[in-house]
Amino acid sequence: MFVELQKYLSKPELYTNSSGNFWDDEHISKGLLEAHLNPSLEAATRKHDFLDESVKWIGAIAPPNRYKNLLDLGCGPGLYAERFSDIGYIVTGIDFSKRSIDYAKWQTRYKKSKIKYHYQNYLTINYNEQFDVIVMIYCDYAVLPATDRAILIKKAYDALKTGGILILDVFTPQMRKPECHTWQYSPYDSFWSEIPHLTLESVFQYDDADLTELSRYIVLTKEGIRCYNIWNHYFTKESLLSEILSSEFSNFELYGDVAGNDYSDASETICGVFTK
Ligand SMILES: C[S@@+](CC[C@H](N)C(=O)[O-])C[C@H]1O[C@@H](n2cnc3c(N)ncnc32)[C@H](O)[C@@H]1O
Repeated sequence: MFVELQKYLSKPELYTNSSGNFWDDEHISKGLLEAHLNPSLEAATRKHDFLDESVKWIGAIAPPNRYKNLLDLGCGPGLYAERFSDIGYIVTGIDFSKRSIDYAKWQTRYKKSKIKYHYQNYLTINYNEQFDVIVMIYCDYAVLPATDRAILIKKAYDALKTGGILILDVFTPQMRKPECHTWQYSPYDSFWSEIPHLTLESVFQYDDADLTELSRYIVLTKEGIRCYNIWNHYFTKESLLSEILSSEFSNFELYGDVAGNDYSDASETICGVFTK
């Protein structure tokens, strides 16, 4: 086991794969769903009060009577999607966590809402001028490497009608973490495993143009070792604009978050609203 562990202890090459899909893992996705559904936790989603504010703001800048069709990329268990549907949007949600999509579909049946959910990687969508609004919320855009971000932006552009808007948020460099190594022993069923496990967590920073950060979680159990690499990037106003405006989007507005608060140099996030 030590030889296998050694493989994971040093800083890996950029974009080295995880040993499994973090979001769609059978066990981890249970903890993620619980985190989503906890209204006062800021983890898998934001606190639910913020979701309410956010949906209210989006409904005000893109009223559902004029911007009818909304696509939610990385919709999770549908917490935003349900709220969007409640205020009058026709909603489609995409997510590649089976557990989240199953929960979202169950909610739709229970609430008799008409949201369409797809268990799908959002990098594979192929819509043509179907949506008035596309949202990608909670800094999911920034986890993608630059090549995938370019694919996503092109697909979102194609999916929007002329005059439609793309709304996304990203973390600013204020949120970049210091490099560190910590460990935690869990004798019980908890987030990373249902059997006793040791988790080694490292944060690595890279000096590439994209300010890439890796949070690496190595999970050791009596059954073996798993390693999850979670990548992130941080954006300034300038880097976000130069990236998205180099695509075909032309008009934009910037805010401090997806509830429409003002941006300042101290903001932890930037929310961009880009018009086709
Ligand atoms: C941080 S959560 C945010 C969920 C939701 N937008 C919110 O704010 O409540 C990110 C979500 O994106 C999904 N996701 C990540 N990468 C994805 C991909 N390539 N395709 C589809 N869904 C993805 C995850 O399964 C997860 O539900």
